[in-house]
Amino acid sequence: MNRDSELKQAAYQEVEAFRDTVESDPYRLKHHIMPPVGLLNDPNGFIQWKGTYHLFYQWMPFKTGHGAKFWGHYSSNNLVNWKHEPIALAPSEWYEKNGCYSGSAIEADGKLHLFYTGNVKDENGERETYQCLAVSEDAIHFDKKGVVAELPEGYTAHFRDPKVWEHEGMWYMVVGAQTQDLKGRAALLRSEDLLNWKHLGDLTGSKTQQLDEFGYMWECPDLFHLDGQDVLVVSPQGLEPEGIKYQNVYQSGYFIGNLDYQTAKFSHGVFTELDRGFDFYAPQTTVDDKGRRLLIAWMSVPDQHEDKHPTIANKWIHTMTFPRKLSIKGEKLIQQPVEELMLLRKNEQVIKNIVIEKDEVYQLETVFELMLDKMTMENSFKISIKKNVELSYSKKDQLFTLTRISYADGLPESRQCRLTELNKLHLFVDTSSIEVFINDGEEVFTARMFPEIGEKDVVFSSEGETVFDLKMWDL
Ligand code: FRU
Repeated sequence: MNRDSELKQAAYQEVEAFRDTVESDPYRLKHHIMPPVGLLNDPNGFIQWKGTYHLFYQWMPFKTGHGAKFWGHYSSNNLVNWKHEPIALAPSEWYEKNGCYSGSAIEADGKLHLFYTGNVKDENGERETYQCLAVSEDAIHFDKKGVVAELPEGYTAHFRDPKVWEHEGMWYMVVGAQTQDLKGRAALLRSEDLLNWKHLGDLTGSKTQQLDEFGYMWECPDLFHLDGQDVLVVSPQGLEPEGIKYQNVYQSGYFIGNLDYQTAKFSHGVFTELDRGFDFYAPQTTVDDKGRRLLIAWMSVPDQHEDKHPTIANKWIHTMTFPRKLSIKGEKLIQQPVEELMLLRKNEQVIKNIVIEKDEVYQLETVFELMLDKMTMENSFKISIKKNVELSYSKKDQLFTLTRISYADGLPESRQCRLTELNKLHLFVDTSSIEVFINDGEEVFTARMFPEIGEKDVVFSSEGETVFDLKMWDL
């Protein structure tokens, strides 16, 4: 057996060996993408190809920690029901032996092309990085073409996560990078044939014309055109907390601006975090045949208490967010849950004009969707979910807060954002996750949550009167 088959075989054996253990975990999610065993991180190669959505993912089958990653693979016809496909990439070749790291997918000549980073560590632990290509005609068998881009001068080996797109007959690749003096950057490369890539420079980054100090490494960049503007999504590492901003270990956010393809410079506005919750990183987007710009992210953050997740006991860890649809409103990226999620709805309950003055307790199924619309309030309002997560809004402070009981130390911890008014709250609660869309996607909070098993209480409370229309569904 060759190395590739051996590795895949070993991964499948791991899936078989721990299937019952993994499936028995009460925190297994009902509707989110998870690894069959081991660790999942970044979404990779998100694409709609020949009508079918494909989502690949960073996968470590052999433990619940990071290591030599595989590309696992899911496919779907509706972004809601996902089918697990055979392993796409295993780290079998010399140029990827320590991991087929993150990357993207495009279609060219009717074939599916995967660009990814080959991660290599030599015997002294020195890192090497290669941008690699694998091509498929059926989205099942991937033919590795090897290295297509070497590390350009001026960077450390932290140069990875290629995202490729086409613009006016040329191919472009944005890569997450670190300069030799440890500045995080988004590098741009160009190619005519997808095989030969020329480094054009840095689009933007820490200590450039555009930005002051802004992190020591930028991971998982994504660049796309949306509603007449260019958007750079990126996950910078090394930002210090600033008031209520940048509270997670690493950030994930975007710049809106304009990319000059001639000079390879991206002029842009401020950095805004995409998600205000605890668990959101390395998002990736694609555009589908409905013309929608869709985003999926890893529902975690590297080095942020990953080793404390309770699911580790059952041999798996991490999940993806639900897919979101992006649009631009003013200076902001708006994120809405894709409408296909409505397919999950069961047992609709509608109550118009609820007036909350004191605690109002509901018992909801474990996995549910709630929509509070046309909200008006006197002072402040709070929803407590399964005695584990609280969402609250104070009109006076114009602050929205998500508080959860930490799975790391059992103490409450919070994330916040400024919000001038709260009109609509739309939330999805799965077995061990919550995604909250505020005012039709103006702000989003995503978090893992690990409530007591069987806990069903959802409590609305208010200081002064809060009034809204309520819709509830089991999912
Ligand atoms: C982001 C990241 C990427 C890398 C991958 C490895 O979470 O560190 O930069 O390609 O994960 O799994």
